Amino acid sequence: MEKINPVLVPQRKLFDGTRMPAIGMGTFGSDRFTAEQVSAAVAGAIEVGYRMFDCAAVYGNEDLIGQVFQAAFDKGTVKREELFITTKVWNNMHGQGDVLLSCAKSLRDLRLNYVDLFFVHWPFANYHAPGCDGDARNPDSKPFSVDAFMATWRQCERLVDMGLVKYIGMSSMTIPKLEAVLPLCRIKPAAIEMELHPSFQQQALFDYILSRDIQPIGFCPIGSPTRPDRDKTPDDVVDIQMPEIVEIAKAHGVHPAVICLKWAVQRGQTPIPFSIYENEYTSNLRCVTEDSLTVAEMESIRLADKNCRLIKGQVFLWTGAKDWHDLWDEDGTITK
Ligand SMILES: NC(=O)c1ccc[n+]([C@@H]2O[C@H](COP(=O)([O-])OP(=O)(O)OC[C@H]3O[C@@H](n4cnc5c(N)ncnc54)[C@H](OP(=O)(O)O)[C@@H]3O)[C@@H](O)[C@H]2O)c1
Repeated sequence: MEKINPVLVPQRKLFDGTRMPAIGMGTFGSDRFTAEQVSAAVAGAIEVGYRMFDCAAVYGNEDLIGQVFQAAFDKGTVKREELFITTKVWNNMHGQGDVLLSCAKSLRDLRLNYVDLFFVHWPFANYHAPGCDGDARNPDSKPFSVDAFMATWRQCERLVDMGLVKYIGMSSMTIPKLEAVLPLCRIKPAAIEMELHPSFQQQALFDYILSRDIQPIGFCPIGSPTRPDRDKTPDDVVDIQMPEIVEIAKAHGVHPAVICLKWAVQRGQTPIPFSIYENEYTSNLRCVTEDSLTVAEMESIRLADKNCRLIKGQVFLWTGAKDWHDLWDEDGTITK
C-alpha cells in the first residue's frame, strides 16, 4: 500500500487559524456500496494518509466507520487530533432537542467525544426516505424559513458551547439564504458544503463564502459519475468526459477524475471525493501533492463551467413549488 505523507497535503485555514486538510474522503455509499465496503475504504484511506473524512448520520454507516476510527487510534496509526471528522444532522432531526440527539448518536456511532465540524445537512426539515424515487414528495415539506433554520442553528451553536463539536457548518445554501441567516448567527459557520465540480463552479456563491472567511467544501467533486439513475437527467454533463478535462488528463497522463481534484484544490475549495477502491482513493490524495495544473489549464477549466447542477434536491420540494429550481433561489430572493 502506497503511503502519502499528510504533511505534503495542502491545508486550509479556518476563520480562527485552525488548519484543515484541503482534501478529504466522502463516505456516502448511496445504494451502490455497503457500510462494510465504505468503512473498509476509510480504514485503507487512513493508512494511505487521508486525515479528513466527511460523514453523515443519513449515510447509515457511522457505526462501522467508528469502529475503524477506534481501531486506528488503538493501533496508533493516527491520533484523534490528527483527524478532521465531519458529520451532519439529517432533515428529520431539526426539531427542538433533536439536533443534540442526532449529534449524540453520531458521536456514539463514530466512537468520538467530539466532531470537528457539524453540518446542517440541508436547510430544510423536509424528510424523504433514503433511496426514495426522484418523484417522491412529502406533503409535510415546507419552503425555507429563516426562523426554522435559525432554531436549528441555535441548537448547533449549543453543541459548540457544550464542547461536542469544534465548528459548525451549513450545506446546500444559496446567497439569499446566507444573506438572511449569517447576520443572525452567534457562532458563524466555519465551512459550507456545496456542490462543486468543473461543470458546476458556482462562482458567485464560492466568492461570497470565501469573502466571509468561510471555507467552501466541494461535494461531488468528480461530478459523481456513478450516482444512481434516479439522480440523473438527460441534460447532465459528465465532468470526466468534458473535452477540456480529458485533454488536460492526457497531458498529465492521469485519469480525468484526478484533474477535477487538482483543479478543486488549486482553485481554493476542499473536495471530498468518494471511492472504495484503493487505487482510486490513493491517486485522489496523491494528485494534490504533485504535478500542479498550469495557469492556462486552470483558465481552460474555469471557462468550461456549464452551470450544471447534479444534486437538484427535487425530493425536498413542497406543495406548490414549481420544480427543483425553486430550491436554489435563482432569481436572487428566497423562493416561498
Ligand atoms: N452535503 C451534501 O448534501 C452532500 C451531497 C452529496 C455528496 N456529499 C459528500 O460528497 C462525497 C462525494 O460525492 P459523490 O460520492 O457523490 O461524488 P464524487 O466524489 O464526485 O464521485 C464519486 C465517484 O467517482 C469515481 N471516482 C472516484 N475517484 C476516481 C478515480 N481516481 N478515478 C476514476 N473514478 C473515480 C467513483 O466511481 P466508481 O465507484 O464507479 O469507481 C466514485 O463512486 C460523498 O461521498 C459525501 O460524503 C455531500
